[in-house]
Amino acid sequence: MDNFSIAYMNIALIKYWGKKEYTPYLIPLVPSISILSSKLYTKTSIEESKEDIFILNNKVQNEKKIFEYIDKIIPNRPKLKVISTNNMPTAAGLASSASGYAALISEINRYFKLNYSTEKLAKLASMGSGSAGRSFYKLSAFDTKGDIYPLSTNLDIRMSAVIISRDKKKISSREAMEISLKTSSLIEEWKIKNLEYFEAMKIALRDDDFKKVGELTELSTDFMHKTMTSSKPSFTYLTEESIEVIEYIKSLRSKGFSVYYTTDAGPNVKFFYLANDEKKIKKIMLEKYGDKIIDVV
Ligand code: PMV
Repeated sequence: MDNFSIAYMNIALIKYWGKKEYTPYLIPLVPSISILSSKLYTKTSIEESKEDIFILNNKVQNEKKIFEYIDKIIPNRPKLKVISTNNMPTAAGLASSASGYAALISEINRYFKLNYSTEKLAKLASMGSGSAGRSFYKLSAFDTKGDIYPLSTNLDIRMSAVIISRDKKKISSREAMEISLKTSSLIEEWKIKNLEYFEAMKIALRDDDFKKVGELTELSTDFMHKTMTSSKPSFTYLTEESIEVIEYIKSLRSKGFSVYYTTDAGPNVKFFYLANDEKKIKKIMLEKYGDKIIDVV
């Protein structure tokens, strides 16, 4: 049997932005829906150790956060060595806490022989990082009751990303959500709208309506960013180059290409399309952005 665990990162189509409470599981302010990467993952193994030590991509990390998280799952645990590697280009700005916490809880489950259900592992992962609970299903819904469950569609959705920056984000999504929540005048509307997008997205996926999936993703993405720009002080993760890529994707659409964008807590722009269109859309994007493009789904 393998002595490690792997989890893939996920990208939200309907965005999670805002925490309501921990019960101890995370109850998000808004529901979200995500698609699992088939390319980018974190691989984690746990060993017994004299000291708590966390090694990420071959570098010892000076961070207690993950051990505080493990303490919540296993009080009175032995000291541990946690070794993680991300297969994504180091700090691609895509290295996501989602795959990190999903791999970690899976490895805790394996190492301590907890035998938890996928449902429980997803909820436990969301205590570490809100988006991590969604990394247990190919298409995942995370609702405002705190339930995380799989969805299905016949659409064969593929996704790539334009890597604009490889820097670590200046402000964590945790902090940024708090600022939005406390200071944006759009939060009440965000709650109402994103719930509408969530319900409509479930229907669009069920009905294999890709146009609707794309439109709803962009609506949820744009609104999430509006909760940041309307915060006091106003902030954004998007750069001029992000906006330029988004505009380029919109221009392709006006030329008849079925391609949509999404962005998260960083400047990189993801774009998605159906498998049938993959060749022609990737060709055009590669011509424009070259080796800035990586495959995500
Ligand atoms: O998992 P967190 O707490 O880093 O939140 C991530 C939030 C977004 O990536 C911006 C949106 C999402 O739903 O994944």
